[in-house]
Parts: sequence; C-alpha cells; structure tokens
Amino acid sequence: MPRKVNYGIDYDDDYDVYEDDDYHNGDEYEYKNEERVIAPKQEVIKAGVWRCPICTYDNEDSMSECDICGVLRNPLVKFSGNSNRTAANFKRLSSLDMPSSEREKNILIESELGAEGPNSSSASLGRDGRSVVKGRETASDSGSKPEILNSSMSSVSLSSKSRTENANEDKDKSNLQYKPESWMMPDQAEGRLSQLNLAIVGHVDSGKSTLSGRLLHLLGRISQKEMHKYEKEAKQQGKGSFAYAWALDESAEERERGITMTVAVAFFNSKKYHVVLLDSPGHRDFVPNMISGATQADAAILVVDASVGSFEAGLDAIGGQTREHAQLIRSFGVDQIIVVVNKMDVVEYSQERFDMIKQKLGTFLRSCGFKDSSVLWIPVSAMENQNLVATPSDTRLFTWFHGPCLLDAIDSLQLPARDYSKPLLMPICDIIKSQSQGQVSACGKLETGAIRTGSKVLVMPSRVVATVRSMERDSQVCSIARAGDNVTVNLQGIEGNRVTAGGVLCHPDFLVHVANQLELKILVLDVTVPILIGSQLELHVHHAKEAARVVKILSLLDPKTGKVTKKSPRCILAKQNAVVEVRGGSARIGLCRGVC
Ligand code: GTP
Ligand code: MG
Repeated sequence: MPRKVNYGIDYDDDYDVYEDDDYHNGDEYEYKNEERVIAPKQEVIKAGVWRCPICTYDNEDSMSECDICGVLRNPLVKFSGNSNRTAANFKRLSSLDMPSSEREKNILIESELGAEGPNSSSASLGRDGRSVVKGRETASDSGSKPEILNSSMSSVSLSSKSRTENANEDKDKSNLQYKPESWMMPDQAEGRLSQLNLAIVGHVDSGKSTLSGRLLHLLGRISQKEMHKYEKEAKQQGKGSFAYAWALDESAEERERGITMTVAVAFFNSKKYHVVLLDSPGHRDFVPNMISGATQADAAILVVDASVGSFEAGLDAIGGQTREHAQLIRSFGVDQIIVVVNKMDVVEYSQERFDMIKQKLGTFLRSCGFKDSSVLWIPVSAMENQNLVATPSDTRLFTWFHGPCLLDAIDSLQLPARDYSKPLLMPICDIIKSQSQGQVSACGKLETGAIRTGSKVLVMPSRVVATVRSMERDSQVCSIARAGDNVTVNLQGIEGNRVTAGGVLCHPDFLVHVANQLELKILVLDVTVPILIGSQLELHVHHAKEAARVVKILSLLDPKTGKVTKKSPRCILAKQNAVVEVRGGSARIGLCRGVC
C-alpha cells in the first residue's frame, strides 16, 4: 500500500497505530455466520503461521495481510461456490483503451450477498476500469520465486454471474439521477493549485527514488538539515550513493537492500500543480505494490537508466521492468508520460546514447499505445542535478539539449478530466487507526464526486454508513475534497474493523456493488504458458488484490475491430484479446503465467 513519506511533515500522534494492530485479537476477520461463503483455503504449515495464497510466504498468525505481497488473509471477494445462479445486472466496466475521461464513466460491480461487514460476504469494488489481473507461477511449480508476467489488461468488462437478487435491497438508488450540490464543483476562488498525481515508475535501480528525493530537496520539501542526516546515515551504512533515495525509502529493509519495496507518497508544488509523487518500486517482486500506486496516477514519469547494459536490461523481454511498467501504466489509462533518461553523467551526457534510447524505447512505447505527442523525453542526472528544476549547467548536455527541464515538463502535462459531478467513489488504499481515541481513517484518491466534513459516506463492502469527522490533505486539515484529491478521511460512527484497505467509500444512495465472478475483456501482453480454464491469477482492482481463477474462456476477439473471431477457444496466447470469466477466492493461487 502506498505510504506517506515522513520527512519534514508533521504527523498527528494519534495516527500512529496501523491496521495490523487492530488484528491482534485475531477475531475481526473470522467468517461468522457465513455458510454461504467459502474462503480460500490457507494451508496450515505450522501452528501460528498461515501461508499466503498468492506468494506462498509464511506469515505469522497475527498478520491480517501478507507481509510480502499485501494480500488480505481473508480476501474481500469470496467464492460463493454456486456458479448456477442467474446472471443479472450486467454492467460494463470501462474499457481501458478508451480515453481516460471516458473510462472513468463506466463502473461496474455487483451487489452480492447482503454483506454484514468485512467478515461477511463482502467483496469488492466498483470502479473506473483500472483493473489488472496478473498471473503468476508458483515457486513450487517453477522451482523459483513467483514470477510476475509482462501482462496486463488493456480492456475490461465485468459482470457478476452469481448473485442473489435481494442484493440491492439496501438503498441503491443508482437508477435515480444523481444531482451534485454546488459546493462539489471546484471553485476558482479557493485559489488552490490543481492536484496532479504523478507515478514514478521504471526498472529497478534506474534512480526513481534518487530523482524523487533530489526534486523534493531542490524544491524545499526536504530541509538541508534533513538531507545532511540522510547523507550521514547512508554513509555510515556504506550506502552513500543512496542518500537522496533514503528520503523515500524509509524502512530498514529498503535501506539495507537498497531497493524500494512499497510506494512512497510525497508532494511538492510546481508553478501549475500540486504534484503528488508516487515513487514506485522497480523490483519485479513488488509489481503488485507498484500497481497500487500507479492506479492513482494521472500521468507518469518513466525513469530509464542511460548506462550501457542497464537500459537494455530494463527493456529485456524477460524481467525488463521498463517494459512491464510502461505496459501497466498504459493499461491503467495513463496516456501522458515523461521519459526521464537518468544517469546521463555515466554516459558522459552523450547525445548519441540519448537518441538511441529514444529511438528504441519510443518504438516500444508506440506499441503500448502511447502517442508520440504525449511522450516527453528529458535527459537528466539526478545525482549531478542536471536538468531537473533548471536548464543544465554541464556543457556536455546544454550544447545539444534545448528542451524543457524536468520541472517544466511536469508543468506541461495536462490534467485528465475529473468527474466532480458523479456520486462519490473513493477506493481505500490504506487505513489508519488510533487505538487511544478509537478513531479510524481511510486514505485514498477520490475517483469521482466530492466530500466534505459532515458528509455521510457508505463504506463498502461492510455497508456501514459513517460520517466524515475531518479530513487531511498532505497532512493539512481540509474541509472539502474533490475528484483527483488524495486525502485521509477520518470517519465517525463506524468500528475500525468495518473499514478495510481495498474497500471503497461511496455515496450512501449510489453504492458500488459487489461481485465474486467477473467477465473480463482482456489483452494478453506476454506469457510463456497459455492461459487455460483453471489458470490461477492475481486480480487487482484498485487497491484490492484477490486470488482468482479462470472459469470460462468465452471468446477470442479481433484486436482491431473487437469482433469475436472464435468462440470457446481452449486457450489464450500472448498478444491475443479475449473475453474470460474469472472467479475470486480460489483455493490456491499462482499456477499460471496468465494475465489479463
Ligand atoms: P528501486 O526503487 O529499487 O527500483 O530503485 P530506484 O529506481 O529508486 O533507484 P535508486 O534511486 O534507489 O538508485 C539506485 C542507484 O542508482 C543508487 O546507487 C543511486 O545513487 C544511483 N543513481 C541514481 N541516479 C543517478 C544518477 O543520476 N547518476 C548516477 N551515476 N547514479 C545514480
Ligand atoms: Mg526506489
């Protein structure tokens, strides 16, 4: 889950107890009264340990989610075990190949099993189509670590085939017309900069965190004193070159290993935007975490390492994260990117090297669906502070590069259209609990609509209505949040265990629905093993991750026209478009290198 970085920002002392603490008594997630729901089996390895169905890591019993991949111990979407129920209410989740503004419009998700709380039937999420299913191969199958596939979904539609028809007995008035109130619309008079959510992605060690740390320092978000501290500590641990990265990589393990493991969230103001940086991990083991951050992005910075061999490794068909990240962010609907060619100091600021990278990567980006006009190319050295917030001072660079510096390039990005006038939809990426005051806060980005202090919100999937007690944006109290804003919403009138990461805050009268079986339109980017019925997948919908299984392959589609070319094929291969049905909550995950 994304986490806020801690430099120079005041944290409320109340907010120091995190989700896990709440599970110490271990009973919140028991499935009581749930004969209908079959939770995935968790292999009992030894007493006090449960094995993650996604990555097979053995977690301590007290953990409510996997320590490695973050999957919930008892997942939100559960398997009802009854596939014969009538299909109902097919709604369409947006196609990711639509323009992002369009994509936001179509939301799907079914109401299912009158859920009573997170320990009831639950299930996820409504949303705008930024959903991904990633297939994996188990360690046991491959003899190696689970492998993440270069694969993602370019287009998705969902339907629930198994549901109870009384599911909407609660107050879903989604057939009524929603009328936004006047305060929900942005007010220029408020004089606040528009928020731009910017994901920093790219191959491991390309310099994403160093670049982010450097930018934050140059723009005054990290004080000189703080920077000295990082430098000193990094040197002491023999990791002097990681001083800037340490501003983002906060955990002992991240610092020790010299890699980012979870998405760090930081912010700064440019001339035009309030920029929220989402510094993602580049290591392939943490792609699920990268997805959690990237789904919030309006635009992205793709960082590539210019050094000889490193750029090539990033673009390698096997394990190249430049490739996979580019494909993933495009799948999430991000269509504007800045390609930062970093470490130009290592190649003597060579124009020839820059042009070669531009040519090779440009061809690949075009194949992912990025338009040339939406891609900016900026050569920089994060380490030597060249071309970040001002024109370069090194003659080897300024003699041939006359484009904008990185900060100006960020200001040239366009904000995607925001859906202020739709009912509230805020996927929850993290929960903060205060044990002392018994308070719970949900963190996330508003995808649509607006809320203000005092607003009533419906917390899904627990279906409890809560009141917004207060809100914080960038650790500052705020009274209104609108589509596009990243906020921490302090809730009143709800027990802490009813709010879960991966859930959604929505308008009480316009709830998102719940599904355990989905029909997906997918594009397979790259797999070595065909996708078959029974293939195990990892389904990502916003911040929810769920083990899933292909239960039907309905058709193959023509990539250009979208028309059905073959019904009920036996398997799906790389580069094919298809319609499949997947079901959540399978017993064991990780058998296939599938995708979606
Ligand atoms: P992950 O988050 O683990 O994927 O890595 P990252 O992309 O965040 O890379 P990070 O910032 O941790 O930097 C990796 C290494 O590259 C560190 O040793 C940095 O000092 C080095 N580095 C980053 N930027 C530059 C640069 O502009 N020039 C040189 N020479 N080294 C750099
Ligand atoms: Mg990093």
